[in-house]
Amino acid sequence: MDHIAPSPLASRRSGPLRGRVRVPGDKSISHRALIFGALTVGETRISGLLEGEDVINTGKAMRALGATVEWTGEGAWRVHGVGVGGFRDPRSVLDFGNSGTGCRLVMGAVAGCPVTATFDGDASLRRRPMNRILDPVALIGARTVSVSDGGRLPLTLAGARAPMPIVYRTPVPSAQIKSAVLLAGLAAPGETIVIESEASRDHTERLLMHFGAEVSVEPAGADGRRITLRGEPELVSAPVVVPADPSSAAFPMVAASIVPGSEVILTDVMTNPLRTGLITTLREMGADIEVLDARSDGGEEMVDFRVRAQTLRGVEVPASRAPSMIDEYPVLAVAASFAEGTTVMRGLKELRVKESDRLAAVADGLAANGVEVEIDGDDLIVHGKGRARGGGTVLTHMDHRIAMAFLVMGLASEQPVGVDDMSFIATSFPGYVAMMRGLGADLS
Ligand code: S3P
Repeated sequence: MDHIAPSPLASRRSGPLRGRVRVPGDKSISHRALIFGALTVGETRISGLLEGEDVINTGKAMRALGATVEWTGEGAWRVHGVGVGGFRDPRSVLDFGNSGTGCRLVMGAVAGCPVTATFDGDASLRRRPMNRILDPVALIGARTVSVSDGGRLPLTLAGARAPMPIVYRTPVPSAQIKSAVLLAGLAAPGETIVIESEASRDHTERLLMHFGAEVSVEPAGADGRRITLRGEPELVSAPVVVPADPSSAAFPMVAASIVPGSEVILTDVMTNPLRTGLITTLREMGADIEVLDARSDGGEEMVDFRVRAQTLRGVEVPASRAPSMIDEYPVLAVAASFAEGTTVMRGLKELRVKESDRLAAVADGLAANGVEVEIDGDDLIVHGKGRARGGGTVLTHMDHRIAMAFLVMGLASEQPVGVDDMSFIATSFPGYVAMMRGLGADLS
Protein backbone atom coordinates (compact mmCIF):
# COMPACT_ATOMS: atom_id res chain seq x y z
CA MET A 1 0.00 0.00 0.00
CA ASP A 2 1.22 3.49 -0.69
CA HIS A 3 1.36 5.97 2.12
CA ILE A 4 2.60 8.99 0.26
CA ALA A 5 1.59 12.03 2.30
CA PRO A 6 1.46 11.79 6.08
CA SER A 7 -1.96 12.46 7.49
CA PRO A 8 -1.82 14.24 10.87
CA LEU A 9 -4.70 14.13 13.34
CA ALA A 10 -5.36 15.44 16.84
CA SER A 11 -7.63 14.36 19.67
CA ARG A 12 -9.16 16.67 22.25
CA ARG A 13 -10.66 16.34 25.69
CA SER A 14 -14.11 14.83 25.11
CA GLY A 15 -17.38 14.42 26.96
CA PRO A 16 -18.41 10.94 28.15
CA LEU A 17 -18.02 8.24 25.49
CA ARG A 18 -21.24 6.31 24.97
CA GLY A 19 -22.39 3.56 22.63
CA ARG A 20 -22.24 -0.05 21.53
CA VAL A 21 -19.66 -1.02 18.93
CA ARG A 22 -18.05 -4.06 17.33
CA VAL A 23 -14.43 -3.53 16.42
CA PRO A 24 -13.18 -5.29 13.24
CA GLY A 25 -12.20 -8.96 13.07
CA ASP A 26 -9.12 -10.34 14.75
CA LYS A 27 -5.99 -9.72 12.72
CA SER A 28 -4.15 -12.88 13.76
CA ILE A 29 -7.07 -15.14 12.86
CA SER A 30 -7.77 -13.25 9.63
CA HIS A 31 -4.24 -13.81 8.28
CA ARG A 32 -4.38 -17.46 9.29
CA ALA A 33 -7.85 -18.06 7.84
CA LEU A 34 -6.62 -16.94 4.40
CA ILE A 35 -3.41 -18.98 4.64
CA PHE A 36 -5.12 -22.16 5.85
CA GLY A 37 -7.84 -21.67 3.25
CA ALA A 38 -5.12 -21.52 0.60
CA LEU A 39 -3.52 -24.74 1.91
CA THR A 40 -6.83 -26.61 1.84
CA VAL A 41 -8.33 -28.28 -1.19
CA GLY A 42 -11.90 -27.07 -1.65
CA GLU A 43 -13.74 -24.00 -0.51
CA THR A 44 -13.19 -22.18 2.79
CA ARG A 45 -15.74 -19.56 3.72
CA ILE A 46 -14.63 -16.82 6.07
CA SER A 47 -16.93 -14.36 7.80
CA GLY A 48 -15.93 -11.30 9.79
CA LEU A 49 -12.51 -11.09 8.10
CA LEU A 50 -10.53 -7.97 8.99
CA GLU A 51 -10.40 -5.98 5.76
CA GLY A 52 -7.34 -3.98 6.80
CA GLU A 53 -4.33 -3.46 4.56
CA ASP A 54 -2.21 -6.08 6.37
CA VAL A 55 -4.71 -8.87 5.81
CA ILE A 56 -5.53 -7.80 2.25
CA ASN A 57 -1.81 -8.14 1.45
CA THR A 58 -1.86 -11.70 2.79
CA GLY A 59 -4.87 -12.41 0.56
CA LYS A 60 -2.96 -11.06 -2.46
CA ALA A 61 0.02 -13.26 -1.58
CA MET A 62 -2.26 -16.32 -1.43
CA ARG A 63 -3.56 -15.45 -4.90
CA ALA A 64 -0.03 -15.02 -6.22
CA LEU A 65 0.81 -18.49 -4.84
CA GLY A 66 -2.11 -20.06 -6.71
CA ALA A 67 -5.19 -19.90 -4.47
CA THR A 68 -8.45 -18.25 -5.49
CA VAL A 69 -9.44 -15.59 -2.98
CA GLU A 70 -12.76 -13.83 -3.53
CA TRP A 71 -14.70 -11.16 -1.70
CA THR A 72 -18.38 -12.10 -1.45
CA GLY A 73 -19.71 -9.34 0.83
CA GLU A 74 -18.69 -7.25 3.82
CA GLY A 75 -16.14 -9.32 5.77
CA ALA A 76 -17.18 -12.41 3.77
CA TRP A 77 -14.53 -14.15 1.71
CA ARG A 78 -14.25 -17.42 -0.19
CA VAL A 79 -10.92 -19.18 -0.65
CA HIS A 80 -10.28 -22.10 -3.01
CA GLY A 81 -7.03 -23.61 -1.88
CA VAL A 82 -4.33 -25.66 -3.57
CA GLY A 83 -3.63 -28.14 -0.76
CA VAL A 84 -0.57 -28.63 1.46
CA GLY A 85 2.58 -28.34 -0.69
CA GLY A 86 0.55 -27.08 -3.66
CA PHE A 87 1.74 -23.47 -4.04
CA ARG A 88 3.08 -22.37 -7.45
CA ASP A 89 5.90 -19.91 -8.12
CA PRO A 90 4.53 -16.38 -7.81
CA ARG A 91 5.07 -14.19 -10.88
CA SER A 92 5.81 -11.08 -8.85
CA VAL A 93 7.28 -10.01 -5.52
CA LEU A 94 5.07 -10.74 -2.51
CA ASP A 95 4.58 -7.32 -0.90
CA PHE A 96 3.40 -7.50 2.71
CA GLY A 97 3.33 -3.76 3.26
CA ASN A 98 3.52 -3.09 7.02
CA SER A 99 2.75 -6.63 8.20
CA GLY A 100 5.29 -8.78 10.04
CA THR A 101 2.66 -11.40 10.72
CA GLY A 102 1.59 -11.81 7.09
CA CYS A 103 5.18 -11.89 5.89
CA ARG A 104 6.54 -14.33 8.47
CA LEU A 105 3.63 -16.75 8.33
CA VAL A 106 3.74 -16.90 4.54
CA MET A 107 7.53 -17.42 4.68
CA GLY A 108 6.75 -20.51 6.77
CA ALA A 109 4.07 -21.72 4.36
CA VAL A 110 6.36 -21.18 1.34
CA ALA A 111 9.28 -22.91 3.11
CA GLY A 112 7.46 -26.24 2.96
CA CYS A 113 6.70 -26.04 -0.78
CA PRO A 114 9.02 -26.45 -3.79
CA VAL A 115 8.57 -22.84 -4.90
CA THR A 116 10.75 -19.72 -4.87
CA ALA A 117 9.29 -16.41 -3.72
CA THR A 118 10.59 -12.91 -3.02
CA PHE A 119 9.27 -11.17 0.08
CA ASP A 120 9.20 -7.42 0.58
CA GLY A 121 7.43 -4.75 2.57
CA ASP A 122 7.40 -1.08 3.47
CA ALA A 123 10.21 0.82 5.23
CA SER A 124 8.97 -0.32 8.66
CA LEU A 125 8.87 -4.01 7.69
CA ARG A 126 12.25 -3.74 5.95
CA ARG A 127 13.76 -2.80 9.31
CA ARG A 128 12.40 -5.88 11.14
CA PRO A 129 14.40 -9.08 11.80
CA MET A 130 13.66 -12.06 9.57
CA ASN A 131 16.43 -14.43 10.72
CA ARG A 132 14.04 -15.63 13.40
CA ILE A 133 12.13 -17.31 10.53
CA LEU A 134 15.01 -17.99 8.12
CA ASP A 135 16.92 -19.98 10.80
CA PRO A 136 14.24 -22.58 11.57
CA VAL A 137 13.03 -22.94 7.98
CA ALA A 138 16.64 -23.65 6.92
CA LEU A 139 16.56 -26.65 9.27
CA ILE A 140 13.40 -27.83 7.51
CA GLY A 141 15.24 -27.59 4.16
CA ALA A 142 14.34 -24.16 2.77
CA ARG A 143 17.15 -22.06 1.31
CA THR A 144 17.62 -18.32 1.51
CA VAL A 145 18.55 -17.38 -2.06
CA SER A 146 19.19 -13.74 -1.25
CA VAL A 147 18.62 -11.54 1.75
CA SER A 148 19.32 -7.93 2.67
CA ASP A 149 21.75 -6.82 5.36
CA GLY A 150 21.34 -8.45 8.75
CA GLY A 151 18.53 -10.79 7.69
CA ARG A 152 16.16 -8.10 6.43
CA LEU A 153 13.69 -7.74 3.54
CA PRO A 154 13.72 -7.89 0.60
CA LEU A 155 14.66 -11.56 0.57
CA THR A 156 14.13 -14.56 -1.68
CA LEU A 157 13.33 -17.93 -0.22
CA ALA A 158 13.40 -21.29 -2.03
CA GLY A 159 11.11 -23.74 -0.28
CA ALA A 160 12.21 -27.27 0.58
CA ARG A 161 11.79 -29.98 -2.06
CA ALA A 162 11.81 -32.63 0.64
CA PRO A 163 10.87 -30.83 3.88
CA MET A 164 12.14 -32.44 7.06
CA PRO A 165 10.30 -32.55 10.37
CA ILE A 166 12.17 -30.73 13.13
CA VAL A 167 12.05 -30.16 16.85
CA TYR A 168 12.40 -26.43 17.40
CA ARG A 169 12.71 -24.38 20.57
CA THR A 170 11.66 -20.80 19.84
CA PRO A 171 14.38 -18.36 21.00
CA VAL A 172 11.78 -15.75 22.04
CA PRO A 173 8.09 -16.25 22.82
CA SER A 174 6.61 -15.55 19.39
CA ALA A 175 3.48 -16.87 17.76
CA GLN A 176 4.89 -15.80 14.43
CA ILE A 177 7.96 -18.03 14.77
CA LYS A 178 5.90 -20.93 16.12
CA SER A 179 3.35 -20.56 13.32
CA ALA A 180 5.98 -20.33 10.58
CA VAL A 181 7.56 -23.60 11.77
CA LEU A 182 4.18 -25.35 11.98
CA LEU A 183 3.15 -24.08 8.53
CA ALA A 184 6.41 -25.35 7.03
CA GLY A 185 6.04 -28.61 8.96
CA LEU A 186 2.65 -29.29 7.37
CA ALA A 187 4.44 -30.53 4.26
CA ALA A 188 7.02 -32.61 6.15
CA PRO A 189 6.48 -36.30 6.89
CA GLY A 190 6.37 -37.25 10.57
CA GLU A 191 6.14 -34.97 13.57
CA THR A 192 7.15 -31.32 13.67
CA ILE A 193 7.53 -30.17 17.25
CA VAL A 194 7.72 -26.60 18.56
CA ILE A 195 8.68 -25.94 22.17
CA GLU A 196 8.08 -22.50 23.62
CA SER A 197 9.21 -21.47 27.09
CA GLU A 198 6.24 -19.10 27.42
CA ALA A 199 2.94 -19.81 25.70
CA SER A 200 2.23 -17.41 22.82
CA ARG A 201 -1.14 -16.95 21.09
CA ASP A 202 -2.40 -20.31 19.84
CA HIS A 203 -4.65 -19.43 16.89
CA THR A 204 -2.51 -21.50 14.51
CA GLU A 205 -2.91 -24.61 16.67
CA ARG A 206 -6.66 -24.01 17.02
CA LEU A 207 -7.15 -23.46 13.29
CA LEU A 208 -5.02 -26.49 12.40
CA MET A 209 -7.35 -28.61 14.56
CA HIS A 210 -10.38 -26.84 13.04
CA PHE A 211 -9.12 -27.87 9.59
CA GLY A 212 -8.65 -31.47 10.71
CA ALA A 213 -4.88 -31.67 11.32
CA GLU A 214 -3.55 -33.80 14.15
CA VAL A 215 -2.06 -31.42 16.72
CA SER A 216 -1.33 -32.06 20.38
CA VAL A 217 -0.39 -29.44 22.95
CA GLU A 218 1.31 -30.31 26.24
CA PRO A 219 2.66 -28.13 29.01
CA ALA A 220 6.45 -27.58 28.96
CA GLY A 221 8.00 -26.00 32.01
CA ALA A 222 6.20 -23.46 34.18
CA ASP A 223 4.61 -21.32 31.45
CA GLY A 224 5.59 -23.09 28.25
CA ARG A 225 4.10 -25.49 25.75
CA ARG A 226 5.17 -28.27 23.46
CA ILE A 227 3.17 -28.44 20.23
CA THR A 228 3.31 -31.54 18.07
CA LEU A 229 1.96 -31.55 14.52
CA ARG A 230 1.61 -34.70 12.44
CA GLY A 231 2.76 -33.72 8.96
CA GLU A 232 1.14 -34.21 5.56
CA PRO A 233 -2.44 -33.94 6.79
CA GLU A 234 -5.31 -33.66 4.36
CA LEU A 235 -6.68 -30.32 5.53
CA VAL A 236 -10.47 -30.32 5.34
CA SER A 237 -12.09 -26.96 4.64
CA ALA A 238 -14.22 -25.59 7.44
CA PRO A 239 -15.96 -22.24 7.79
CA VAL A 240 -14.06 -19.66 9.85
CA VAL A 241 -15.94 -17.09 11.92
CA VAL A 242 -13.57 -14.29 12.94
CA PRO A 243 -14.41 -12.70 16.31
CA ALA A 244 -13.68 -9.05 17.09
CA ASP A 245 -10.01 -8.29 17.72
CA PRO A 246 -9.16 -7.80 21.41
CA SER A 247 -6.07 -5.81 20.39
CA SER A 248 -8.35 -3.35 18.55
CA ALA A 249 -10.98 -3.36 21.32
CA ALA A 250 -8.16 -2.27 23.65
CA PHE A 251 -8.37 1.32 22.32
CA PRO A 252 -12.06 2.05 23.00
CA MET A 253 -11.71 0.01 26.22
CA VAL A 254 -8.97 2.24 27.60
CA ALA A 255 -10.68 5.36 26.22
CA ALA A 256 -13.91 4.46 28.07
CA SER A 257 -11.90 3.79 31.23
CA ILE A 258 -10.15 7.19 31.29
CA VAL A 259 -12.78 9.61 29.89
CA PRO A 260 -14.95 10.48 32.92
CA GLY A 261 -18.59 9.40 32.75
CA SER A 262 -18.09 7.00 29.82
CA GLU A 263 -20.00 3.77 29.31
CA VAL A 264 -19.21 1.72 26.21
CA ILE A 265 -20.26 -1.77 25.17
CA LEU A 266 -17.84 -3.75 23.00
CA THR A 267 -19.44 -6.76 21.34
CA ASP A 268 -18.06 -10.15 20.17
CA VAL A 269 -14.58 -9.52 21.58
CA MET A 270 -12.39 -12.62 21.47
CA THR A 271 -11.27 -13.74 24.93
CA ASN A 272 -8.75 -16.42 24.04
CA PRO A 273 -6.82 -16.60 27.33
CA LEU A 274 -3.53 -16.03 25.52
CA ARG A 275 -4.81 -12.60 24.42
CA THR A 276 -6.41 -11.20 27.57
CA GLY A 277 -3.43 -9.82 29.50
CA LEU A 278 -4.67 -6.25 29.09
CA ILE A 279 -8.05 -7.05 30.63
CA THR A 280 -6.36 -8.74 33.61
CA THR A 281 -4.09 -5.71 34.02
CA LEU A 282 -6.81 -3.08 33.65
CA ARG A 283 -8.92 -4.91 36.22
CA GLU A 284 -5.95 -4.95 38.61
CA MET A 285 -5.74 -1.19 38.05
CA GLY A 286 -9.35 -0.90 39.15
CA ALA A 287 -11.06 -0.65 35.75
CA ASP A 288 -14.77 -1.40 35.56
CA ILE A 289 -15.00 -4.08 32.85
CA GLU A 290 -18.05 -6.28 33.03
CA VAL A 291 -18.83 -9.38 30.95
CA LEU A 292 -22.40 -9.23 29.63
CA ASP A 293 -22.53 -12.36 27.52
CA ALA A 294 -19.98 -15.13 26.96
CA ARG A 295 -20.10 -17.72 24.16
CA SER A 296 -17.85 -19.54 21.72
CA ASP A 297 -17.83 -19.91 17.96
CA GLY A 298 -15.47 -21.64 15.52
CA GLY A 299 -13.08 -22.74 18.26
CA GLU A 300 -12.60 -19.33 19.93
CA GLU A 301 -14.32 -17.78 22.97
CA MET A 302 -15.90 -14.31 22.78
CA VAL A 303 -17.83 -11.96 25.03
CA ASP A 304 -19.60 -8.60 25.10
CA PHE A 305 -17.92 -6.21 27.52
CA ARG A 306 -19.39 -3.19 29.27
CA VAL A 307 -16.67 -0.69 30.21
CA ARG A 308 -17.37 2.25 32.51
CA ALA A 309 -14.96 5.03 33.43
CA GLN A 310 -13.21 4.45 36.72
CA THR A 311 -10.28 5.84 38.66
CA LEU A 312 -7.22 3.69 37.93
CA ARG A 313 -4.20 2.97 40.10
CA GLY A 314 -0.65 2.03 39.13
CA VAL A 315 0.33 -1.66 39.14
CA GLU A 316 3.28 -3.90 38.39
CA VAL A 317 2.85 -5.97 35.23
CA PRO A 318 5.03 -9.11 35.30
CA ALA A 319 7.18 -10.08 32.33
CA SER A 320 5.38 -13.44 32.18
CA ARG A 321 2.21 -11.63 31.12
CA ALA A 322 3.85 -9.94 28.13
CA PRO A 323 3.05 -12.60 25.49
CA SER A 324 -0.68 -12.32 26.27
CA MET A 325 -0.74 -8.54 25.78
CA ILE A 326 2.31 -7.84 23.62
CA ASP A 327 0.42 -5.49 21.27
CA GLU A 328 -1.40 -3.69 24.09
CA TYR A 329 1.51 -1.93 25.87
CA PRO A 330 1.19 1.38 23.99
CA VAL A 331 -2.41 1.82 25.09
CA LEU A 332 -1.72 0.38 28.57
CA ALA A 333 1.01 3.02 28.97
CA VAL A 334 -1.62 5.65 28.15
CA ALA A 335 -3.96 4.18 30.80
CA ALA A 336 -1.03 4.17 33.25
CA SER A 337 -0.49 7.90 32.64
CA PHE A 338 -4.01 8.59 33.93
CA ALA A 339 -3.67 6.19 36.88
CA GLU A 340 -2.72 7.29 40.37
CA GLY A 341 0.78 5.97 41.08
CA THR A 342 3.51 4.17 39.24
CA THR A 343 2.99 1.36 36.73
CA VAL A 344 5.97 -0.87 35.99
CA MET A 345 5.74 -2.97 32.83
CA ARG A 346 8.46 -5.59 32.81
CA GLY A 347 10.13 -7.64 30.09
CA LEU A 348 9.33 -5.60 26.97
CA LYS A 349 12.36 -6.44 24.83
CA GLU A 350 10.19 -7.66 21.94
CA LEU A 351 8.55 -4.22 21.72
CA ARG A 352 11.79 -2.98 20.17
CA VAL A 353 11.18 -5.04 17.00
CA LYS A 354 7.51 -4.33 16.30
CA GLU A 355 6.21 -2.01 13.56
CA SER A 356 8.42 0.58 15.31
CA ASP A 357 10.69 0.49 18.35
CA ARG A 358 7.57 0.72 20.50
CA LEU A 359 9.42 1.02 23.77
CA ALA A 360 11.11 4.22 22.55
CA ALA A 361 8.06 5.49 20.65
CA VAL A 362 5.80 5.13 23.70
CA ALA A 363 8.29 6.74 26.07
CA ASP A 364 8.91 9.64 23.66
CA GLY A 365 5.18 10.15 23.08
CA LEU A 366 4.38 10.19 26.80
CA ALA A 367 7.26 12.55 27.57
CA ALA A 368 6.12 14.90 24.78
CA ASN A 369 2.78 15.09 26.58
CA GLY A 370 4.12 15.85 30.03
CA VAL A 371 4.07 12.34 31.49
CA GLU A 372 6.96 11.24 33.70
CA VAL A 373 8.31 8.05 32.10
CA GLU A 374 11.47 5.95 32.21
CA ILE A 375 12.93 3.01 30.34
CA ASP A 376 15.00 0.78 32.59
CA GLY A 377 16.57 -2.03 30.54
CA ASP A 378 13.55 -3.85 29.10
CA ASP A 379 11.09 -2.30 31.55
CA LEU A 380 8.82 0.68 31.01
CA ILE A 381 7.95 2.76 34.07
CA VAL A 382 5.14 5.31 33.97
CA HIS A 383 4.55 7.63 36.92
CA GLY A 384 0.82 8.27 36.75
CA LYS A 385 -0.62 11.44 38.27
CA GLY A 386 -4.31 10.80 37.58
CA ARG A 387 -4.13 13.34 34.76
CA ALA A 388 -1.95 14.21 31.77
CA ARG A 389 -1.03 17.57 30.33
CA GLY A 390 -1.05 16.65 26.63
CA GLY A 391 -0.10 19.37 24.19
CA GLY A 392 2.53 17.33 22.33
CA THR A 393 2.76 15.89 18.84
CA VAL A 394 3.65 12.22 18.71
CA LEU A 395 5.86 10.66 16.05
CA THR A 396 4.16 7.42 15.04
CA HIS A 397 7.03 5.86 13.04
CA MET A 398 4.68 4.02 10.61
CA ASP A 399 3.09 2.27 13.60
CA HIS A 400 -0.71 1.95 13.73
CA ARG A 401 -0.82 1.16 17.45
CA ILE A 402 1.26 4.20 18.42
CA ALA A 403 -1.17 6.38 16.45
CA MET A 404 -4.30 4.82 17.98
CA ALA A 405 -2.93 4.82 21.54
CA PHE A 406 -2.01 8.51 21.53
CA LEU A 407 -5.30 9.49 19.94
CA VAL A 408 -6.88 7.84 23.01
CA MET A 409 -4.62 9.91 25.27
CA GLY A 410 -5.83 13.24 23.91
CA LEU A 411 -9.46 12.41 24.78
CA ALA A 412 -8.69 12.80 28.49
CA SER A 413 -5.64 15.08 28.62
CA GLU A 414 -5.78 18.80 29.41
CA GLN A 415 -4.49 19.91 26.01
CA PRO A 416 -4.92 18.17 22.65
CA VAL A 417 -2.58 15.36 21.57
CA GLY A 418 -1.49 15.30 17.95
CA VAL A 419 -0.13 12.39 15.92
CA ASP A 420 2.06 13.10 12.89
CA ASP A 421 0.47 10.41 10.71
CA MET A 422 -2.71 8.41 11.23
CA SER A 423 -2.64 6.67 7.84
CA PHE A 424 -1.15 3.41 9.18
CA ILE A 425 -4.24 2.84 11.32
CA ALA A 426 -5.74 1.40 8.12
CA THR A 427 -3.37 -1.58 8.38
CA SER A 428 -5.31 -3.06 11.30
CA PHE A 429 -8.37 -0.96 12.16
CA PRO A 430 -10.12 0.60 9.18
CA GLY A 431 -12.89 2.85 10.49
CA TYR A 432 -11.12 3.58 13.80
CA VAL A 433 -11.58 7.33 13.62
CA ALA A 434 -15.24 7.08 12.58
CA MET A 435 -15.98 4.53 15.32
CA MET A 436 -14.33 6.64 18.00
CA ARG A 437 -16.16 9.76 16.78
CA GLY A 438 -19.40 7.80 16.91
CA LEU A 439 -18.72 7.16 20.61
CA GLY A 440 -18.25 10.89 21.15
CA ALA A 441 -14.49 11.29 20.69
CA ASP A 442 -13.33 14.70 19.47
CA LEU A 443 -10.83 13.83 16.71
CA SER A 444 -9.98 16.35 14.02
C1 S3P B 1 1.06 -12.13 16.02
C2 S3P B 1 2.04 -12.35 16.94
C3 S3P B 1 2.72 -11.28 17.71
C4 S3P B 1 1.97 -9.96 17.60
C5 S3P B 1 1.49 -9.68 16.22
C6 S3P B 1 0.56 -10.78 15.75
C7 S3P B 1 0.47 -13.27 15.32
O1 S3P B 1 4.02 -11.11 17.21
O2 S3P B 1 2.79 -8.90 18.04
O3 S3P B 1 0.79 -8.44 16.16
O4 S3P B 1 -0.61 -13.13 14.72
O5 S3P B 1 1.09 -14.35 15.34
P1 S3P B 1 5.25 -12.06 17.70
O6 S3P B 1 4.95 -13.44 17.29
O7 S3P B 1 6.46 -11.52 17.00
O8 S3P B 1 5.31 -11.88 19.18
